[in-house]
Amino acid sequence: MKMFIANWKMQLSLKEEMEYCHDNLESLKKSPHKIILCPSFPSLIGFTQLLHKTDIALGAQNCSAYTQGPYTGQVSAVSLAQAGCSYVLVGHSEERASCNLTDEDVAEKALRVLEAGMIPIVCVGETKEDHDAEKTHEVILHQLEPVLQKIEKAPIYIAYEPLWAIGVGETPQPEKLGALFSWLKTQIQGVAFLYGGSVNEKTIKPLLEIDHISGFLIGGASLRFEEFKKLIF
Ligand code: PGA
Repeated sequence: MKMFIANWKMQLSLKEEMEYCHDNLESLKKSPHKIILCPSFPSLIGFTQLLHKTDIALGAQNCSAYTQGPYTGQVSAVSLAQAGCSYVLVGHSEERASCNLTDEDVAEKALRVLEAGMIPIVCVGETKEDHDAEKTHEVILHQLEPVLQKIEKAPIYIAYEPLWAIGVGETPQPEKLGALFSWLKTQIQGVAFLYGGSVNEKTIKPLLEIDHISGFLIGGASLRFEEFKKLIF
């Protein structure tokens, strides 16, 4: 059994997200895999009601690095837990870029998520430039350092999402990805590793064979249930 995390980003409206969940719930429930849906904030409470008494879990796409206070527009981890989330994505590359997040910010967010009783899904990954300069390991270790310093023996997931593979339709070569995950496993123990970046019907087969990948973070291919269905069954 693998984890399939649907990261809908800001691609669907509240109405579209609710319809997706409502219309495909019976089918989603039958997947032999662990399904985690990450809709946008306004859909969370509606999803909690729809997902009640199912094994499908709910995740948020982000949370504040602060516990509480005068932070207009931010959402606390505690509120997300109260809204029914069990997981929160932190440090997705799109958020790192648009909000100028530091690795310390990401670690703080992961801590808030844990304090609120949820599991952080910490996203890391290198740019094409760093990849071509063979700096992948260095970049990942740097991104994770504050997280690993602050968090010991807590349940966290680490999602490796090379920026150059997100949304382009092609993944890194499976052999190279396999070597990367084997290396990650030697560096960090006791966490679950995920892969994200252009996972779709065409790319998933060799990815399923790679050791140490417990699941996938899926953007584009999760937006239409007809496509997502081909991955989760
Ligand atoms: P993608 O996005 O599947 O569309 O490449 C993955 C992600 O950004 O989490």
